[in-house]
Amino acid sequence: MSWQVCAACLREFSETDARAVCACGGLLEVRHRAPQASGPALRALFDARRSSGGSGVWRFAELVLPSAGAAAVSRPEGNTPLVESRAVSGWAGLEWLRLKEEGLNPTGSFKDRGMTVGVTQAARIGATAVACASTGNTAASMAAYAAHAGLPALVVVPAGQVALGKLAQSIAYGARTLLVRGDFDACLALVREAEQRLGLYLLNSINPFRIEGQKTIVLETLQQLGWEPPEWIVVPAGNLGNTAAFGKALREARDLGLISRAPRLAAVQAAGAAPFARSFREGFARRHAVKADTVATAIRIGDPASYERAVVAIRETNGVVAEVTDAEILEAKGAVDAAGVGCEPASAASVAGARRLAREGVIAPGQRVVAILTGHVLKDPEILLRGRQPREIEPRLAALEAALKEKS
Ligand code: F0G
Repeated sequence: MSWQVCAACLREFSETDARAVCACGGLLEVRHRAPQASGPALRALFDARRSSGGSGVWRFAELVLPSAGAAAVSRPEGNTPLVESRAVSGWAGLEWLRLKEEGLNPTGSFKDRGMTVGVTQAARIGATAVACASTGNTAASMAAYAAHAGLPALVVVPAGQVALGKLAQSIAYGARTLLVRGDFDACLALVREAEQRLGLYLLNSINPFRIEGQKTIVLETLQQLGWEPPEWIVVPAGNLGNTAAFGKALREARDLGLISRAPRLAAVQAAGAAPFARSFREGFARRHAVKADTVATAIRIGDPASYERAVVAIRETNGVVAEVTDAEILEAKGAVDAAGVGCEPASAASVAGARRLAREGVIAPGQRVVAILTGHVLKDPEILLRGRQPREIEPRLAALEAALKEKS
């Protein structure tokens, strides 16, 4: 029903081939036989499944991994709301803005959508252990899904650069968690080497099955909008797995007649970790790698692994790549948090990017914009309390009254 193809040399591999990348070094892509239905009939099939609940990933099984069937390792995941917040729209200067709240997935980030597919695949091919390098969310998600499937998990993360909530999750779910004295890019290189030498199944987003699951962020968004696409989808960009997944989802949705027009993609990087934005400004003439530094630790990535397929995604959707400063990210986070929605710093890059693109006139007034909030507000509690520790008082009314008179 499905097979894998190398995006670089076009060599094909079976659906259950366990290699992480092609022998030529190219990344693999999963292809599926076209479903029997298309257009309105396929929309109707997906819509009927939505009304009966279940996973917001496996609802789209024909486009994700049709042969998984009952073997799917699912919590379930997805079914995240498209939130309307006047306060956030106003902050961003947009008339029509919706926030896709991916932080409401089982482990608090969009990673669960890719991980349900990746761990399902690991179990199907008889993997004995799974591994990933991570800035934290992939680790938390993999740890949970591996535990669910009864598979041992190895997590390697950059020491001192992972938000507390994510590290705590990874440990709680029982993954062997190692702090590496290096950055995320060094962690990824290490785990890729370990995959070959130690026979671990790699669950970073270079794993093409992860991409299949993450496509459903876009598919579910389109479905929630009655298959009437917005003009823009704005997404934070680090290792570029999501950007690649969104491009693939939109290509397939158009090919299958689910939509007649694709939204434009806007990938947003933090200014201190923006090699992809730099390549974009140069017309993608070449790939860059930087030493990354940003307050948004989730996207503190200097040499994104999915560069090539993300370039395809931006080109095919007439998309753009923007960068925003840490100050803009924190201001956007403040707006999202204060609206009662909340998100982690990296997620706020999408809202900050939407505002900047609107100000620059790239997003035109009146255009409909969906911004992806990739992770939950509780992922990074330390940043919330930085300089904002609540005041401590005695249990007396006078103390309470005095405190209320002070500036918060
Ligand atoms: N937002 C959050 C909250 C993330 O955790 C990540 C990536 C991204 C955005 C960027 O997505 O890498 O597909 O471009 N986190 C990875 C991790 C790298 O290890 O958890 P991307």
